[in-house]
Amino acid sequence: MNHMSVTIGTPLQSSAFKVLLLGSGELGKEVVISLQRLGVEVHAADRYDHAPAMQVAHYQYTLNMANPEELKQLIAQVKPHLIVPEIEAIATEVLVEIEASQTATIIPSAKAVNLTMNREGIRRLAAEELGLPTSAYRFADSLESFRAACDDIGYPNFVKPVMSSSGKGQSRVKSFAEVDTAWEYAQTGGRVNQGKVIVESQIDFDFEITLLTVRAKNAETGEIETQYCDPIGHRQDSGDYVESWQPQAMTAVALEEAKRISHKVTTALGGCGIFGVELFVKGDKVWFSEVSPRPHDTGLVTLASQYQSEFELHARAILGLPVNTTRHSIAASAVIYAGVDDTNLSFSGLNLALANPNTDLRLFGKPEGFKRRRMGVATARAETTDQARELAQHAADQVIVNQN
Ligand SMILES: Nc1ncnc2c1ncn2[C@@H]1O[C@H](COP(=O)(O)OP(=O)(O)OP(=O)(O)O)[C@@H](O)[C@H]1O
Ligand SMILES: [Mg+2]
Repeated sequence: MNHMSVTIGTPLQSSAFKVLLLGSGELGKEVVISLQRLGVEVHAADRYDHAPAMQVAHYQYTLNMANPEELKQLIAQVKPHLIVPEIEAIATEVLVEIEASQTATIIPSAKAVNLTMNREGIRRLAAEELGLPTSAYRFADSLESFRAACDDIGYPNFVKPVMSSSGKGQSRVKSFAEVDTAWEYAQTGGRVNQGKVIVESQIDFDFEITLLTVRAKNAETGEIETQYCDPIGHRQDSGDYVESWQPQAMTAVALEEAKRISHKVTTALGGCGIFGVELFVKGDKVWFSEVSPRPHDTGLVTLASQYQSEFELHARAILGLPVNTTRHSIAASAVIYAGVDDTNLSFSGLNLALANPNTDLRLFGKPEGFKRRRMGVATARAETTDQARELAQHAADQVIVNQN
């Protein structure tokens, strides 16, 4: 399917331009809203009913997207022009087939989706094929080989199941005494019971960033060009982002290096869309960590800081339309957690959260909360990133989660 110069029809009629979103979380919800504004017909899928993006889409489907037969059947039924994966737990072999048969365009590309769903694929591409700087690493698939890998890499190190995200099954191993426990923990945290882990040396960074990198077509030439948002700084707590801000100050040399790395890895992955390139920075030195071929959670801050948020950038880029990555404000975001395991939650204190005119709020509408599940985000604009962070955190803290 060629979307070189897209023609958008009328939703719910035969001319509709159809996008199928695989994964319907809070990031997908914002992408759907952006697509809706451009008159796209949106189909949203997830493994449970009433997922955030489903609530703003034209059609919703609940299925196991990791099951190849179920996924194939859904695609045959919807006949989308574009397939937009929002999560990693998808039967990616189906997407490879669909791309090869040219029945739909996979965003950004089947290769990108396939390689980034597995830490081994993307790490080998970045370090071994592209020669990008990364932490030292080893792979292991048994307790025996894991012990050897840990001793090889040294301590402290980071252990992650190759098929996992959001810190699941991940631990920081400080000495040989902790090795067996880390192995056990990794075996329970992986997405599929595949057993394989990556052991990474610890990078002693000053700060970490997400460099949102967009591959979008030039309006005149149709050539794909690479553009960058200002670097986003963030703080992680047990593998999960808790706050982010934009811009993160860094040296001109480090910024150039961050762009070089991002350009190289996103060019290798191909296609159109936004990528969240995660990098570690120390002085002028930059290490590649990982990349999402889709909007990044730390990029929620762009809702407050840019003319086009990362979600609008993604929507435009995947439609083959030009983008503008300009930032208009200094801003920050702070995550709102459920704090309890329960369904049917309500949120109060919103008047206080929004009392400052430079703050804003997103509540994702998730049907069920868990202690550490992200239910919303507060954003704030200010004169400095420190002030923006303080204001965003203050706004988030005002939101009270109530059980019903
Ligand atoms: N080799 C490393 N050296 C230092 N810190 C690390 C290393 N690997 C991971 N971390 C820390 O742990 C965080 C989470 O790691 P990583 O991004 O690989 O996992 P993840 O599960 O994919 O997380 P997310 O899904 O939130 O991006 C990093 O953002 C960083 O703060
Ligand atoms: Mg990460």
